[in-house]
Amino acid sequence: MGKKSFITLGIESSCDETGIGLYSSDQGLLAHKLFSQVDLHAEYGGVVPELASRDHIQRVLPLIIETLDACNIELEELNGIAYTAGPGLSGALLVGGSIAQSLAWGLGIPALGVHHMEGHLLAPLLDSSRPKFPFVALLVSGGHTLLVEVDGIGEYKILGQSLDDAVGEAFDKTAKILGLGYPGGPALAFLATKGVAGRFDFPRPMIDRPGLDFSFSGLKTFARNTFINFPKEKASIAKAFEVAATDTLMIKCRRALEQTGFSTLVVAGGVSANLTLRQTVDEMAKKLNINVHYPAPEFCTDNGAMIALAGHYRLLSGQSNEHYKVLVKPRWSLEELEAI
Ligand code: KG4
Ligand code: ZN
Repeated sequence: MGKKSFITLGIESSCDETGIGLYSSDQGLLAHKLFSQVDLHAEYGGVVPELASRDHIQRVLPLIIETLDACNIELEELNGIAYTAGPGLSGALLVGGSIAQSLAWGLGIPALGVHHMEGHLLAPLLDSSRPKFPFVALLVSGGHTLLVEVDGIGEYKILGQSLDDAVGEAFDKTAKILGLGYPGGPALAFLATKGVAGRFDFPRPMIDRPGLDFSFSGLKTFARNTFINFPKEKASIAKAFEVAATDTLMIKCRRALEQTGFSTLVVAGGVSANLTLRQTVDEMAKKLNINVHYPAPEFCTDNGAMIALAGHYRLLSGQSNEHYKVLVKPRWSLEELEAI
């Protein structure tokens, strides 16, 4: 490890995944580990916040040790610790925050609470071919659907957002209507591959209105009504939902690119793993001569690597929290962040 190398430990615990990442200023991502609580919540059909917090308590420290061991780094070699401070479930956030702050205090190094969506937004920077600022970011997760003008790290202007369900939430709820398990997004996407394209035509919500906001709850209702009338056509209903949702996202991205005049687009967050979305956006981008960047599939959904990366830039710029305060912000807008 070079002398000037700065190693950041990242801790993600905002929802139902415990994620740990180690990022070095010299070598980039050193290692990351994930523990998914999917099996724990599956029998309830969704995330149970109290169970999530209790499980994070059990997982965080062993996972930190595993991640350090994977690259032969000692705890004492860490230079800073970043944790997800929000948005997310407050109990779950407090677990990561308390462990991060205590470890940092003990080691005499800085700790910093980072914004979960900034982690998603910067995840494509973990790749060797990095997007260049400025760019438009489409952030699509279980809790958020955001179109963001990104002029630099921490320089975010929200161009549009969902007025009701986030797109990941709409995938999950539609999956539930179709009797698929939790989490429903990947299951619905898989079922859609077996559907007949064009069998049903779902509306593209809000595309006839100006602006860049989204609404996805109507699509879910459309899926429910279609399912009541055609209960044997689950796969084609999944297909119609997926095509309508991803087409709507693509249309709004195109509008945001035209509005800003930017020539780079980043698509990140759990739903950016969706292959139909990637195909639809890639086709649009090719026509407009736009560069598109996605995170590697393992960094689309929640992970510790993106938190280590986001924290790394901020810690290196001198930002940190006071050691004895565990700061969490269950509700937190990207626009409140400081530029670095
Ligand atoms: O970013 P993420 O892991 O967690 C949040 O910050 O919310 O996103 C999770 C969301 C879930 O709604 C999940 O169903 C959705 O991303 N998702 C997908 C796919 N993979 C994950 N939705 C559609 N297609 C996928 N392949
Ligand atoms: Zn997330």
